[in-house]
Amino acid sequence: MSAVYVVGVGMTAFGQFIQKSMQDMTREAVHAALGDAGIPVSKIEAAYFSNATQGALEGQYMIPGQVALRPLGLEGIPIVNLENACASASTAFAMACKEIRSGDSSVVLAVGAEKMVSPDKLKTMAAFDGAIDVHNRDETIANLLAMSDGMTLPSDALEDTGPRSVFMDVYAAMARFHMMEYGTTQAQIAAVAAKNHDHSVHNERAQFRKSFSVEEVLAARKVCWPLTLPMCSPVSDGASAAILCSEEALKYFDRSRAVKVGASVLVSGTTHSPKQPEQHITRVAALKAYDMAGVAPEDVSVAEVHDATAFGEILQTENLGFCGFGEGGALAASGATRIGGRIPVNPSGGLESKGHPIGATGLGQIFELTQQLRGEAGARQVEGARIAVAENGGGVYEYEEAAACITILEKT
Ligand code: COA
Repeated sequence: MSAVYVVGVGMTAFGQFIQKSMQDMTREAVHAALGDAGIPVSKIEAAYFSNATQGALEGQYMIPGQVALRPLGLEGIPIVNLENACASASTAFAMACKEIRSGDSSVVLAVGAEKMVSPDKLKTMAAFDGAIDVHNRDETIANLLAMSDGMTLPSDALEDTGPRSVFMDVYAAMARFHMMEYGTTQAQIAAVAAKNHDHSVHNERAQFRKSFSVEEVLAARKVCWPLTLPMCSPVSDGASAAILCSEEALKYFDRSRAVKVGASVLVSGTTHSPKQPEQHITRVAALKAYDMAGVAPEDVSVAEVHDATAFGEILQTENLGFCGFGEGGALAASGATRIGGRIPVNPSGGLESKGHPIGATGLGQIFELTQQLRGEAGARQVEGARIAVAENGGGVYEYEEAAACITILEKT
C-alpha cells in the first residue's frame, strides 16, 4: 500500500468561544496547518470537512465545508462533508488517506470544526440525541441501563442533576456494567480524570488547565453515578486540521518533521453481547490497525483515546491491548498511563480536560500525536515517542459506539 504522511497540523484552542464563528475557527486551524506545512492554500488538491452539529444548531444542514473553506481560497477542488458523530474528524482523516492512496490527489486537507456552546443549553444537549438511533432511543437506553441490573447503587445514584447530554447516561451505564463485571472502582475512574487534568495543565490549547487530585474528582458534583463533573467531557468549540501527502509529494516538504501514517482504520459496530469484549468495535478496529501497521500494543509509545468520560479511557486502553480486559482501572490507578509511565495516555489532557468539540476532536488527537512524534510537545513530551495510536469513537448503537477509527502514526 502506498505511504501517506502528515506534513502539517493546526488547531485552535478548545473552549467556549461565543464570539467566534465556524468560519473563524476553521480559518485559524487551516492557516496554522498550512503554515506548519510551509505551503500556500493553492497546493491543496482536495478537502475533507468534518462537522456534526451545525445543522441542528445553526441550520447549516448541508455544505458546511464549502461555506467554511471557500473564504480561505479553497475553491474549485473537491470538498467532501463528513459526519460520523464524535468520530467525524478521524473519519475525515481516514478518507483523506484513502484519497491519497487512490492516487487521485497528492496533497489533501482534513479539517474538523464544531461550535456547540450556546446560551440555549437545552438545544445543545438535544443535538447529542442525534447520535443514537432516534427511532429506537428508549429501547437503546433501557438496554444499556439493564446491563447493570442487580447492582446495588448508592441511594442518590439516579437523581436528576440537571441538563446533560444523553451520552453521560450512556457512559455511566457502561461504567456500572464494568464495575459489576470486573470490580472496577469509582476511585480508579477518578484516577483517569485526575491524570488527564494534570496533563492539560501543560497544554495551552486545553479548555481546562487546573489539576485535580483523585479525592477532588470524587468529591466534585455528580453528573450521573459513578461519573462526577471532572470525569465528563465538556461542551466545547474548536477546530483542528491536518495536511496529508503522498510519498511522491513528500519531496516538497520538510521530511524530518513528517509523520508516517502506519494505519488508518474505520469500522462500524456489529451485533453482539456486552459480555463479548473481543467483539467490541474498538477491539476489532485496533487489531486491524496493528496488523496493517505491523506493530503490537507493546510497541506503542503514546496514545490519545476517546475519554468522552474517564470511564471511556479505561475501556479503550483495554481494547487497545495496553492491558487485559477488566484491567483498565488498575492500569490507570498504577500510574502507568501518566506521562513518564509505561504507556502514557492522553498527554494532551484528553476530551475531559482539553475539551471535546465533537467534529474537531479526532483531528485534535492527530495534532497532539504529531507534536509528540516530532518531539515538539514541550512540558508534556513523552520522551522517545516513536509509535502513536489515536482512538476515536462516535455515536452509540446497541452496547457500543456506532463508528470507531484507529490511526497509527510513526516517527519517520
Ligand atoms: N472538568 C472540570 N470542570 C468542568 C468540566 C470538566 N470536564 N466540565 C465543566 N466544568 C466546570 C466548568 O468550568 C464550570 O465551572 P464554573 O462554574 O466555575 O465556571 C462548571 O463546571 C459548569 O460548566 P458548564 O459548562 O456550565 O457545564 P454543565 O454543568 O452545564 O454541564 C456536563 C456539564 C458534563 C453535564 C455537560 O458538559 C455535558 O453534558 N457534557 C457531555 C458532552 C458530550 O456528551 N459530548 C459527547 C460525548 S461522546
